[in-house]
Amino acid sequence: MIKNFLQLSLIAFILLSCNNPKEQQHISTDEFEHGAVVTAHPLASQVGVDILKKGGNAVDAAIAVKFALAVVYPNAGNLGGGGFMVYRDSAGNVTSLDFREKAPGKAHKDMYLDKDGNAITDLSLYGQLAAGVPGAVAGMEAAHKKYGTLPWKDLVQPAIDLAVGGFEITEQQAEEFNHYKEDFIKFNPKGAAIIKEEAWKAGDLFVQKELGGTLQRIAEQGRDGFYKGKTADLIVAEMSSGNGIITHQDLVDYEAVWREPIVGNYKQYKIISMPPPSSGGIAVLALLQSIQNYPLATWGFQSDSTVRAMVEAERRVYADRATHLGDPDFYNVPVTHLTDAQFNQERMSKISLDKATPSEQVKAAKFPGYESEETTHFSIVDKDRNAVSLTTTINGSYGSLVWVHGAGFLLNNEMDDFSVKPGTPNLYGLLGGKANAIEPGKRMLSAMSPTIVEEDGKLKMVVGTPGGSTIITSVFQTILNVLEFGMSAQESVSAPRFHHQWKPDRIDVEEGAISESIRQNLEKDGYQIHKRGAIGRVENILVLPNGRLQTGADPRGDDKAMGY
Ligand code: DON
Repeated sequence: MIKNFLQLSLIAFILLSCNNPKEQQHISTDEFEHGAVVTAHPLASQVGVDILKKGGNAVDAAIAVKFALAVVYPNAGNLGGGGFMVYRDSAGNVTSLDFREKAPGKAHKDMYLDKDGNAITDLSLYGQLAAGVPGAVAGMEAAHKKYGTLPWKDLVQPAIDLAVGGFEITEQQAEEFNHYKEDFIKFNPKGAAIIKEEAWKAGDLFVQKELGGTLQRIAEQGRDGFYKGKTADLIVAEMSSGNGIITHQDLVDYEAVWREPIVGNYKQYKIISMPPPSSGGIAVLALLQSIQNYPLATWGFQSDSTVRAMVEAERRVYADRATHLGDPDFYNVPVTHLTDAQFNQERMSKISLDKATPSEQVKAAKFPGYESEETTHFSIVDKDRNAVSLTTTINGSYGSLVWVHGAGFLLNNEMDDFSVKPGTPNLYGLLGGKANAIEPGKRMLSAMSPTIVEEDGKLKMVVGTPGGSTIITSVFQTILNVLEFGMSAQESVSAPRFHHQWKPDRIDVEEGAISESIRQNLEKDGYQIHKRGAIGRVENILVLPNGRLQTGADPRGDDKAMGY
């Protein structure tokens, strides 16, 4: 009898916990009182926590983590790429930093077309011509000038130590290094630290002396250690050893830009995210606005109706992305229209939850006055509750596959994020047109969505992910997982994900996402379901009602949450 009672009480407790978001947030053991850092690599997380413990703020930690990732996570962490940072200080002031790569001065709209006008996408993906002018180092210096409290050198030093002293690679890294070996050899005939005779295995020491030298110049001279002098000379020499076009002038001219973030409401929450040249902030907010009037929490996580509403919203928002989004310094992006809650909700009122709308029938919206025409994320919160949400990329895994000889870092292949030709999908199947056409000095459109959520004027969530086109939908789902489905930080990132991007007209699903019976129903009603591997690697920090920080590191990689 007592046993039965205990069992019933336990079941009741579990059910209650699941229905009550606040209760459920206490399940995770990854909770910290003072500060927390979640990154794609344990050594980078450690560097971040060390800086916080030394009294550095979230931006100091972000700079140190960014440089450390360039060493310990070379497929995405970088000196030769770019990214975006969304920042909210403890008083609630928000800003964002754009250190996205730019098209070199000699770039032009037809640079990846053959003489018949056909796209040669290999050229925008691999080799020196695929690289945009890197923004990472300029971005970190700009962040330090505005918000840094610890000396710049102290923030670069941990990365130098990891590069020169080496670090033990993980199992996943060993597999990847071996997998790409032939490509690395092809694009780096003069060699690179990552290329070695015998196969890599977990625990091998990875030493990067040339990268250490470049980091040392950056530590001593700031941005000039990268955009001028020896490093710049090595970048330009690397260009002329292949088909590259980045010049000394392009490097000297590169500037990171502070931009007003995208800020909007979802129910009682405030969403703060990255503005153009990322499509991320606009798209995440538009998706949230689109589904705001549907009872997702009542319908349940990945229930039939929840999936339909989310997919129909995604289809429409990605159609708009393809037409209307590009670098705001070159193209008049209709930000206000695209993030208008009424516009997004009215459009959704016409959808059917009984039948898929074929993507062919979904066109980008028309606004008066407008022509119709491998990445990594980290989240950091410090003891004062300043928060950094930062996503950085060299685009594809290992970028252009070109290491700058003598300087030891990889160059991005971000040029592929431009629309190489209208109607030609990029690496992630995304389409684009005039808004995102190549022009000298222009920034290519991004999907990166570093995001911060507030509730009642207080910090609530710091979230983001890599994943190309799936970044937007992964951030969208993670936000809903917490706000609507009551998940803890860890549950919100571990939960299986799905994705629709207008074209191709299909729902991509991870193993375990959307139950079999719901899949059958969806297929009956015109949805195509496509199984695929992991979607995204989300890092999330939640501020709990008791003020503690709860962390979620994505189990799809070696990702690690640390704090103190
Ligand atoms: O900026 C973008 O949207 C892409 N270059 C991001 C690429 C990416 O996330 C690769 N990671 N898996």
